[in-house]
Amino acid sequence: MAVMKAPGRRRASALGLLAAGVMAVAGTATAAPATSTAADSASASASVQASTLGAQAAQSGRYFGAAVAAGKLGDGTYSTILNREFNMVTPENEMKWDTTERSRGSFNFGPADQIVNHATSHGQRVRGHTLVWHSQLPSWVSSIGDANTLRTVMNNHINGVMAHYKGKVYAWDVVNEAFADGGSGAHRPSVFQNLLGDGFIEQAFRTARAADPAAKLCYNDYNIENWSDAKTQGVYRMVRDFKARGVPIDCVGFQAHFGTGGPPASFQTTLSNFAALGVDVQITELDIAQAPTTAYANTVKACMNVARCNGITVWGIRDTDSWRSGEKPLLFDGSGNKKPAYNATLSALGGTPTAKATTKATANTATNAPAQTPAKAPAKTPASPGSAAALPGSFSWSSSGVLMSPKPDSTHNIAGLKDPTVVYYNGKYHVFASVASSSGYSLVYLSFSDWSQAASATHHYLDRTGIGSGYRAAPQVFYFAPQRTWYLVYQTGNASYSTNTDISNPAGWSAPRNFYSSMPDIIKQNIGNGYWVDMWVICDSANCYLFSSDDNGHLYRSQTTLAQFPNGFTNTVIAAQDSNKYALFEASNVYKVQGSNQYLLIVEAIGSDGRRYFRSWTSSSLAGSWTPLAASENNPFARASNVGFPSGAWTRDISHGELIRAGYDQTLTINPCRMQYLYQGMNPNAGGDYNSLPWRLGLLTQTNSSC
Ligand code: XIL
Repeated sequence: MAVMKAPGRRRASALGLLAAGVMAVAGTATAAPATSTAADSASASASVQASTLGAQAAQSGRYFGAAVAAGKLGDGTYSTILNREFNMVTPENEMKWDTTERSRGSFNFGPADQIVNHATSHGQRVRGHTLVWHSQLPSWVSSIGDANTLRTVMNNHINGVMAHYKGKVYAWDVVNEAFADGGSGAHRPSVFQNLLGDGFIEQAFRTARAADPAAKLCYNDYNIENWSDAKTQGVYRMVRDFKARGVPIDCVGFQAHFGTGGPPASFQTTLSNFAALGVDVQITELDIAQAPTTAYANTVKACMNVARCNGITVWGIRDTDSWRSGEKPLLFDGSGNKKPAYNATLSALGGTPTAKATTKATANTATNAPAQTPAKAPAKTPASPGSAAALPGSFSWSSSGVLMSPKPDSTHNIAGLKDPTVVYYNGKYHVFASVASSSGYSLVYLSFSDWSQAASATHHYLDRTGIGSGYRAAPQVFYFAPQRTWYLVYQTGNASYSTNTDISNPAGWSAPRNFYSSMPDIIKQNIGNGYWVDMWVICDSANCYLFSSDDNGHLYRSQTTLAQFPNGFTNTVIAAQDSNKYALFEASNVYKVQGSNQYLLIVEAIGSDGRRYFRSWTSSSLAGSWTPLAASENNPFARASNVGFPSGAWTRDISHGELIRAGYDQTLTINPCRMQYLYQGMNPNAGGDYNSLPWRLGLLTQTNSSC
């Protein structure tokens, strides 16, 4: 059990003068990921606008499909949309091994036949999904122990399923998700990999080609949309090798299960780089958390701009049909109404949402559009909040008055409400914060749909939950999408976390667990008289990073893989340091800037007036070095000097808080347009014991945004 630091971890703000310290950086900058490619030209531009997704996609020679569940074909709303909008169908589960060959040699095609028959009678084609996959695999296969048996079984399965659907399936996902997450670029462990070695994929494709020579044969995977990712590179090398050696492969499927930020900036580059190997590319399982219009439009445009991107499939029809239904990621709502993302998708396909216009399409046909490279943000489109806007080099803000104050009760004597973290999810802001008093620190949760409701929200004290009592402070909340779990990260003396499957249920949080067995040596060596505080987790598509501060001029960074998270944080380094500890004090936030290849770091400092303020830096990599953005007292990120207080200057401190994010997942993506920062401030006349200071929460809104 970690030794807890005394709760009085921070001194009063009457601190020494701040000289303009020079920020030193450590850490290795990673190589630039960009690979620019020749532009693909769009294969055709729409000449007549259509009013459905399938018909519009067909105008450029593409298809638009949906994943379909056999059990829903009898639902009239569902099948009406299916028949009207889509011209390709993927059985969502019915062609998987655990349905088609539940016991050895005994095939069951009933559910999949229902879908294939429905598709055929409605003029829709079928993508076959999937023949060889480690998941939804019956245990009689995963428990096979010798290579010869497994090879026979795998070939027999491919032959059996493909023979039944011969001539009826346009393309097969022959192998699904064979590559590992994280930085290895290698195959993931599975019974196939473990017994048959790397060659199982090639074997499966060769068997499939012989079984139905007319079917297109695809490799399908997720998290291979970002060009520089090791996983993407691993799949790319495999496809290149297959093409070079004549192993039959015709297409690569990009699942495209995206967070709210939508596709990575390099997605089009990735599609065109694969296409340049001589395969078709397809978006096979598209869904995007909260279905932002821009994210959908960007995804569709990436495909439209690549001639060999010949189709898009969304993974379900209505939000309620989705495997991610809680995230409402699809084009139709639960009642079957078209959502804004539907119109954005139809427009990006070159169509018109009104269904009436017959004029020639002009927008979004994007002939010869250059492939985006990750290093460059796409051009900003006015009135398109999700598109990339450069961060300015200086900032100005307007502050709200006090929005949230402590709500002491009979067992919680609270002086300050502090250190807020916030996500907007399911129509609500969910705020977690520290509550401080002379007797210590614990955590509180509140939620509300609008800032005007914040003051009246109920405060749920988390010491009554699995989180327990004792020193818990400075929370950070995010949804870890790979595990479909919420994480609350906080300090206990160690860096700790609790998990919950429902952010809105305060009772659902698990007991604290520690990220580290003990304080990493490099922190012990540098912390001096400081305190280990303000843990912050952010992940890219391969790795997760844990940042923390020591109130002694150091920002630390540890690392683990996305697959290992929350375990395995190692390689702790000093990510940034300053010889003046007050210039790089604590309360760091790190974010991904939406639509760009930039990360934003802000760190709380103590100014020459003894007041708290924030400095900012950017980097192209979470493990890279940080370049000053607005990083001085005279040009701060946020300080009383660049904040207006139309409802009264209730604070001179702009202290520990966080930016309002565009999404809520582990990527911590922010939209750089009209940023908002939830912060702690306090009555400038207050003083005395640090733990008893009257911190309150307010909201800054950026006033110098160019978008
Ligand atoms: C999902 C289905 O949507 C769910 O109904 C099922 O419970 C699990 O599988 N990658 C794939 C798809 O290739 O087959 C998965 O489909 C989603 C992730």
